[in-house]
Amino acid sequence: MAAKDIKFNTKTIHGGQQPDEAYGAVMPPIYQTSTYAQTTPGGHKGYEYSRSANPTRTALENSLASIEGGEFGLAFGSGLAAIDAVMKLLKPGDEVISTNDLYGGSYRIFKKIFENFGIVFHFVGMQSADAIQDKINSKTKLIWVETPTNPMMNIIDIKAVANLIKDKDILLAVDNTFATPYLQLPLELGADIVMHSATKYLGGHSDTVVGALIVKEKELADRLYFIQNASGAVCGPMDSFLVLRGIKTLHVRMQRHCENGRAIAEYLKSNPKVEKVYWPGFEDHPNHKVAKEQMKDFGGMISFVPKGSSYNDTIKIVEQLRIFTLAESLGGVESLAGHPASMTHASIPKEERLKSGIEDSLIRLSVGIEDVNDLIADLEQAIG
Ligand SMILES: Cc1ncc(COP(=O)(O)O)c(C=O)c1O
Repeated sequence: MAAKDIKFNTKTIHGGQQPDEAYGAVMPPIYQTSTYAQTTPGGHKGYEYSRSANPTRTALENSLASIEGGEFGLAFGSGLAAIDAVMKLLKPGDEVISTNDLYGGSYRIFKKIFENFGIVFHFVGMQSADAIQDKINSKTKLIWVETPTNPMMNIIDIKAVANLIKDKDILLAVDNTFATPYLQLPLELGADIVMHSATKYLGGHSDTVVGALIVKEKELADRLYFIQNASGAVCGPMDSFLVLRGIKTLHVRMQRHCENGRAIAEYLKSNPKVEKVYWPGFEDHPNHKVAKEQMKDFGGMISFVPKGSSYNDTIKIVEQLRIFTLAESLGGVESLAGHPASMTHASIPKEERLKSGIEDSLIRLSVGIEDVNDLIADLEQAIG
C-alpha cells in the first residue's frame, strides 16, 4: 500500500518507521551516542555526529512528517527551540503578522528576543482574515497562526489565511500543538510550516520537553535543517524515543480527550456558578463553523471564568482541585488546570492580555483521559 494511502490511525504506529536493521527491534532503539565510527574520513553509514543527525531522532522526524502529511520533520529540544529556528529564516527589517492570542512564551520570544534583531511583529486578532490583509506589505515574510488559540480557544481559518498570501513570498506557519494532526492538518489547508510543542499531546505523558517542525518543500526543509544543525537546539535520543512512543497512542488518547472535553464543556456551561466557557465545540462559539470544517473534533482544552470571581477567588478554586493538578503545560493523560494570568501568560503585559480576553479570573483546563465523572465531581467541589 502506498504510504499516502495509509490512514491516520496506522500512521501514528507505523508512519515513517521500519523495524531496526541491526536486530529487528520493533521499537526504534535509543541510540545514546554522540558520534559514529568511520572506516575512512567520510566513510560512515549516514550518521557522523548526533547534533547533525541521530537514528532515534530520525525515526521521530519521519514519524512527525508522516502524521502531519508532510515530507520532512525536524525535532528540537523544545517547542520554543522550534519557533526560534523558524524565526531564524528571517532578516532584520522583515515583518511578521502573528495572532494576538497565543502562548505567552511565543509572544515573549517574538517581542523580547527577535524584535531586538530588527524583526517587526504585528499582533492582530485573526478571527477575520481582513485584519491580516491590513498589515500585509512588501516586507511581510511570515504569518504566525495558533489555532485553537491559547488560552481563549479562538479559531483561525487556516485555508482563508493561506488564500490571502497564495501568490506572495510569505510563509504561513501554524502552531498545531492544541489540535494535533488527529484533529487538523494545516499543511493540507495551505500552511508551509507546522510547529509543535511535542511536550504536549504528541508526547502525551508529561515526561519530556520536545519541539517539532514539519514541512513539505525540500528547499524550506534544507534551510531549516541548516539552522537546526548550525544553532544546535536538537532533541536528544531518549526524548525522541519518548515522543515516538507517545505518538503511537495519539489517536486513542485524542479520541478520549475530545469525549471528556465535550462532557466537561457542557457541564461548565450548565453550571450557574460559571460565567463564561470557551470551547470551539459550542454552536454559539464565534468560529464554530470554521472549527467544524477544519477540525475533526474539538479537543480537550477549555477555558472558563467563574461567576463574580476575583483574582483571589480564582486562585482558591484552582488550589482546591484534587484530580486536576495545578500545573503549567497541557496535553498529557492527566488533567491539568492553569491560571493563565499568573502562569502561562504572565509574560504578556496586563493591557495586552486583557485585549485578548485573558482576564484575571480565567482558568484553563487541559482535560485528561481519566473517568469523566471523577473530573466533573472535582470541578463541582472546587467551584463550590
Ligand atoms: C501552543 C504552544 N506553543 C508552544 C509552546 C512552547 O513549547 P515548549 O514548552 O515545548 O517549549 C507551548 C508551551 O506551552 C504551547 O502551549
